[in-house]
Amino acid sequence: MRRPLVAGNWKMNGSSAMADDLTAAVTAAAPPAVEVLLCPPAPYLARVAAALAGSAVALGAQDCSEHAPGAYTGEVAGAMLRDCGCSHTLVGHSERRQFFGDTDARVAAKVARAQADGLVAVLCVGETLEERRAGRTEEAVGRQLDAVLALPDTGAVLDALVVAYEPVWAIGTGETATPGQAQAVHAWIRARVAERDAARAAALRILYGGSVKPDNAAELFAMADIDGGLIGGAALKADSFLAICAAAAATAA
Ligand code: 13P
Repeated sequence: MRRPLVAGNWKMNGSSAMADDLTAAVTAAAPPAVEVLLCPPAPYLARVAAALAGSAVALGAQDCSEHAPGAYTGEVAGAMLRDCGCSHTLVGHSERRQFFGDTDARVAAKVARAQADGLVAVLCVGETLEERRAGRTEEAVGRQLDAVLALPDTGAVLDALVVAYEPVWAIGTGETATPGQAQAVHAWIRARVAERDAARAAALRILYGGSVKPDNAAELFAMADIDGGLIGGAALKADSFLAICAAAAATAA
């Protein structure tokens, strides 16, 4: 049985006050059956880490440099994220791929670097609307996934990996993949990983992201290969985020 994971990606939103309020509310009510992860913007990581001390809620960054510490102005190294209390980092979010030049090769390098620094990498994959309409969803997701599966020692990579399927057309649009659409891609991802390592594929958590809300979370999380969610807009308010966590907890009961 895979333990559900619900991650809140705040994206470039928030303030110190919001970080304090949201973290306090989430730690007070996060259901123990679910692994809960908060991914605030980098300037708030240390603050949120302090507020999470002693709680089971985990801390993740939204991105991680592919470089070791050194002369890379503006970048944040995985070692620094660990030092600030992160256990996870998102890698390859579609907004990074779309606006900040994260190619498949760079995303794979980031996964390798993050894992070498002791972080669990939450690898985001997903097709654009054009790719879906052209029937190229599997090709797009496969390309993104294969770049990471091609890293040396696939077994070790999979041991510190979570995959988040986020169809680009469903992010922030209010348009959600139907449970059936999402399940089909999740099952395809798991089968693709199983070609390399069946046991680790069975244990791999695959999250769905893209307009997950309290009113659609339960039907998505009920799908056999959907192991939780990567939540954007609904993670900015404690009540909606906790309601999504509760929906995930219900599947673990
Ligand atoms: P929304 O939940 O706002 O669609 O964002 C999804 C996402 O990109 C999470 O990483």
